[in-house]
Order: sequence, then structure tokens, then C-alpha cells
Amino acid sequence: MRIQGQDYRAVWWDNGAVQLIEQRLLPHRLEIVTCRTYQETAQAIKDMVVRGAGAIGVAAGFAIAQAALTASSANFRASVDDAARLIRATRPTAHDLFAAVAHVREAAFASTDPAQGREAAVRAAMAFADENGKAGEAMGRVGAALLRPNMRILTHCNAGWLAFADWGSALAPIYYAHRAGMALFVYATETRPRSQGAKLTDWELSQAGVPHTLIADTAAGSLFQRGVIDAVIVGADRIAANGDTANKIGTYTLAVLAQRHRVPFYVAAPRSTFDPAAPDGHAIPIETRNEDEVLYVSGVADDGTLRRVRLAAPNSHAENPAFDVTPASLITRFVTDGGLIDSTVSAIAAFLDRPTPLVAR
Ligand code: MRU
Repeated sequence: MRIQGQDYRAVWWDNGAVQLIEQRLLPHRLEIVTCRTYQETAQAIKDMVVRGAGAIGVAAGFAIAQAALTASSANFRASVDDAARLIRATRPTAHDLFAAVAHVREAAFASTDPAQGREAAVRAAMAFADENGKAGEAMGRVGAALLRPNMRILTHCNAGWLAFADWGSALAPIYYAHRAGMALFVYATETRPRSQGAKLTDWELSQAGVPHTLIADTAAGSLFQRGVIDAVIVGADRIAANGDTANKIGTYTLAVLAQRHRVPFYVAAPRSTFDPAAPDGHAIPIETRNEDEVLYVSGVADDGTLRRVRLAAPNSHAENPAFDVTPASLITRFVTDGGLIDSTVSAIAAFLDRPTPLVAR
């Protein structure tokens, strides 16, 4: 995607280093972080320098490649497996991270020769990243077919190109249709507590010139009631075999509202987000994050300095689940890189059975 005339990806490989857009500083500053070791890349995932299911998957794949490159021949498998354990422990919910680790680790171990394993790991990580970008474009094409001129679309959190190698998932159809000249309007929820909607989605849509406005999370019900939402498109962090979908906290609320108001509710995700090993939503691990994300807010002061200020009283506490699960019955269709998929066990199984390099085994 282009920012101020320059093409960027959210994460890319640079001669053994992993380059990441520092998402915690957006929209106020655009900085690139360089991770030279797999430990640094893992820490960047854990600290949410990079976030969004697709982007953390790509970063995780690169981290395994970094581990393979530096693993000694004598201890090749054990070292790569140590790295895999560390990387898997960074964030629990997004399936793409686990898909990427499995994919690159398998490539590293395909030969008994560590030298070949190193090369294969780098190739696999780069292919995973490229596939992720292409999947975004495919979701854009597939999802754009659902859109009509002057539609008003609600989205939640950030599932745009910052959350992927490129394009995004939920925002990809919007970008695709916008580039084709279709007039659309997007409502982006601010997405407390980390405000990915206010900080990232709003910025992305501005960069792309897509007409949009931010709303407080609590305003969504009123918009549905006034009849100004024609469709909802969200991303996903993990989709179970029956279609139950984990996505950013607050997604379930929007799905219930969409059903109440008979508005289609679409979930956009590539194959690497589907987890056939999770029979339903109960099997999806939900990340609990630090209470400070709720108790504080951060942003830029009028003098340009980045500040973090406390909202709640000094002794207050907060519960902070990062994701919720939307039951399959509330999802109209999945927008995937393999086409539109019904939210049923059989449609998902048929989709996952088609061969693809990205599906985690
Ligand atoms: O906690 P984050 O910011 O990594 O959450 C991920 C998300 O951005 C959302 O859940 C998103 O809708 C799916 S990621 C493509």
C-alpha cells in the first residue's frame, strides 16, 4: 500500500532482518523497527509493534527463518524447535501465527542437511509472506462482488493492510471496490481498549482516500437502529471448524446487532486463519491482556509529545479479554482467498480440503 507516495508492507524480510512498521506509534509517527534476531522479532510480536493476525503470522514465519539461519548444524533441529516454542508463546489467539511457524519449521526440517534447511526456511517464510499479500488481494476481489454503490459499511478493529503483508482482510474488498471507482462509506469503530480502529483503520482509510468516519464503540447500536449500516465486514483471528469466529473484542456485539437489524455480517479471512483442529469456538484460546490497556489511554498531546494518561481512579481494576467468539449462526458468509464460503462445517471442510501451502497441519 502507498503512504505518501511510497509503497510499504506492514512487515518484510531484509537480508536476514525483519522490518516492521511500528504500529504503536501510528497515526502520529511512521517509524520502521528492525529485528535482527528471532528473539527480537518474537518480542515485537508480543509487544504489539506488529499486530493483526496476518501480519503476526508473516513476522512469525520470518522469525523461524531467522532461527534456522543462526542455528548451529550440530543442534539445528533442537534450536529451531526452541525458537518455535518461544514464538508460539507470544500471542495465543491468531491462528496465522501457528500456521506460519508450522509451515516454515516443516520446510526447515524437510532435508537432513542443515544448510539446505536454512535455505528452505527462508524460502518458505518469504513464500508465506507473498501468499499472505496475494490472499489479501483475492479477498478484495471476492468481497468486492458483495458491495453495491453507496453502501455504508461498518468495520471493527483493524483488518486492513497493516494487519497483513498487504491489502488486509475486512478492508480489502473496500479498497478493491474503491479502486474500481465505486462510491462507498465506511464507519470504523474506535475499538477500545487499544483503539486499533481510531489509530490504524482511520489512518489507512485516509491514506487510501476512502470516505469514512470514526464512531465510538458504544454508538454502533444507534447506527443500526437509524438504518445507516448496509453491511458489516470484520476480520478474524481464528475460525473453528464449525465457523465460530474469534475476532477483536466487541465483534460479537456487532454480530448480534446485525442479526437483530437484518444486516449482512461478513467475516473476511484467508485459509491460514482457519483452524480445523478447533471443533468450535470453545476450543479457541482467548488472550487476556494487561488491565492497563483499559485503565489508561495513550495518544499525542497538542505539543506533539506522545502521552499515556490514566482514565480510571488510582485503585481501579479492569478485566481485559482481547477477543470474543461470534457463533457461526450469526455469520452471513466468509470472504476468503478461495471464494465466498457458507458458515457451515461442510462448506469450511470443503474449502480447507482444496490444496494450499498456507493451511497449518
Ligand atoms: O490484537 P490485535 O490488534 O492483533 O487484533 C487483531 C485484529 O486486528 C483484529 O482482531 C482483526 O479484526 C483481525 S486481524 C486481521
